[in-house]
Amino acid sequence: MANRNFPSTRLRRLRKNLNIIDLVSETNLTTKDLIQPIFIKENYNDAEPINSMPDIYRYGIEKALFEIEDILKNNIKALALFPVIENINKDEKGSEAFKKNNFISNVIQKIKAEFPEIILIADVALDPYTDHGHDGIIVNKEVDNDETIEALIKQSQILAEAGADIIAPSDMMDGRIGKIREALEKNNFKDTILLSYAAKYNSSFYGPFRDAVNSASNLGNSSKSSYQMSYKNINEALHEVEMDLNEGADIVMIKPAMPYLDIITRIKQNFKIPTFAYQVSGEYSMLKNAINQGWLSETVMLESLYSIKRSGADAILTYAAKEIAKELSK
Ligand code: PBG
Repeated sequence: MANRNFPSTRLRRLRKNLNIIDLVSETNLTTKDLIQPIFIKENYNDAEPINSMPDIYRYGIEKALFEIEDILKNNIKALALFPVIENINKDEKGSEAFKKNNFISNVIQKIKAEFPEIILIADVALDPYTDHGHDGIIVNKEVDNDETIEALIKQSQILAEAGADIIAPSDMMDGRIGKIREALEKNNFKDTILLSYAAKYNSSFYGPFRDAVNSASNLGNSSKSSYQMSYKNINEALHEVEMDLNEGADIVMIKPAMPYLDIITRIKQNFKIPTFAYQVSGEYSMLKNAINQGWLSETVMLESLYSIKRSGADAILTYAAKEIAKELSK
């Protein structure tokens, strides 16, 4: 081992100026690492701000197409779509989610018709569609694992048919990746990518998202702790990932991101597979609100994304994707 003592070693030599700092930087974040989540609202043709998410909107489909054009211009090539469904179309079983030609299928087709090159990620879970705000079907007051999976299979099928490139189950039922994979294979969707929200924690950082899709009031005080993971656990996350890989997941996701960097690192190191992280609504809003108040410099957003990249994530879903892309291209 070389002598690393002062003064033969002066670490500040490599911090002399920004160009040198860049040459020796160990991680790099580019627009190619970023995925923009977008909320698209049914029966609506404007853009409506979301109270708890500064600078983020619910778009009617026509407005969304303009926004997507702008996102693409900024070199972001992947979108995660979240439908905002009218209350009258929500029910106990979330049946709108698995109706043919439903709102989200039309959205996918319209986006693909205009921007065929874009990568569309479609969420699989029932919460945007249920009148109780849970991700699955309730039987005897519990979200029923196996009955929910039957609905998720149908939902996945509809999303794949509509043209989604990536199907992303975010529901945390056991065994759903295997069942969805089997159905996709059988129906000749052999190349549909499955991005599993494998380690999804039961987190209060999802609060603003639930406002955005209007599921917060439906959910009320009810908790998702019977299916989403406890934030006290580490090994359980590895267990979840291992199962999802065995069942046919192509990519795994950890969510939230910044409070769970240790989990991202361990999953990446253990499995060496494509690993995404989701900087969720609460993480975004916390930083963005402090920036807008002038309490934090706007560079905290980039710093937070670098921390996620450094932890081992290959790509990051973040509401700040477009604005960071602008920043990166400067
Ligand atoms: C729903 C889903 C949630 C998020 C993505 N998909 C919310 C939840 O599980 O309650 C959260 C994303 C965010 O907070 O930005 N299955």
